[in-house]
Amino acid sequence: MPKDLQSLEHYLEEIEPIDTYIYEEVNSTNSIASELAREAFKRPILVVANKQTAGRGRMGRHWYSPANSNIYMSLVLKLNAMVLYPELITLYSAVCVWQVIGETVKESLGHLWIKWPNDLYWEDKKLGGILTESLYSAGKPEFFVIGIGLNVNSDKEEIQRQTDLVWTSLRAETARDYKRDSLIAGITGTILKDLYLLSEPDRITKMWKERTRTIGARVKVITGNYEFEGLAEDIDSKGHLIVRDAFSGDRVTISTADIVHIR
Ligand code: BTN
Repeated sequence: MPKDLQSLEHYLEEIEPIDTYIYEEVNSTNSIASELAREAFKRPILVVANKQTAGRGRMGRHWYSPANSNIYMSLVLKLNAMVLYPELITLYSAVCVWQVIGETVKESLGHLWIKWPNDLYWEDKKLGGILTESLYSAGKPEFFVIGIGLNVNSDKEEIQRQTDLVWTSLRAETARDYKRDSLIAGITGTILKDLYLLSEPDRITKMWKERTRTIGARVKVITGNYEFEGLAEDIDSKGHLIVRDAFSGDRVTISTADIVHIR
């Protein structure tokens, strides 16, 4: 196990009981976490890997996941009635990750923001993302798998060669290495601490809006079927994005799409 993951279990002892699985290599921590939850779920499950061979991003994209440098973690929660709108889990998690990075990396303040719905950006470069998946039982979501990928110590040029977006890592921005175990424990503890907020959509959307640059931005909305440009005006209580179509003037509510900020 790489040195900067060795103290993870120790750090997690401070947090409420969770079942932790740390792997050298997996296909996708989200897939492993789903299998473990279906086999037996007693308390929150955390799956961490040093490397992923088939990491998944949103919209069916591949998530580049080299060994020894970045965070690939999945947290499985059983939330039931508490969750009014499952979409908010992703927004809430993005706020938690934003907060932990802010506490750990002082230089990030003023640079780090959340792009709708759940991308973590350092200025105009992507630093991380969140893929939340629901596991259904009898037609209802029973478990939620929050998959978090964060570029921590990887070399910027290396990531850039593998992906078409503009990427960065904490190390690329600050010229320092970070201990992944302490960041993972911080993110896990922060998410678990205030889960009650999931029954208070207005508080989550407020926290999210304080950390985004999407609201008020001109955006291009790209879905599988159509594209349009407009002004991102707000998010609703489910976390859906409300965009004023520049052509028709209509207010369109977007639940799933890619958005590109236009200058
Ligand atoms: C995005 O498209 O921005 C979301 C990326 C989510 C990647 C993480 S890495 C850990 C977890 N396992 C996966 O296969 N995907 C998520």
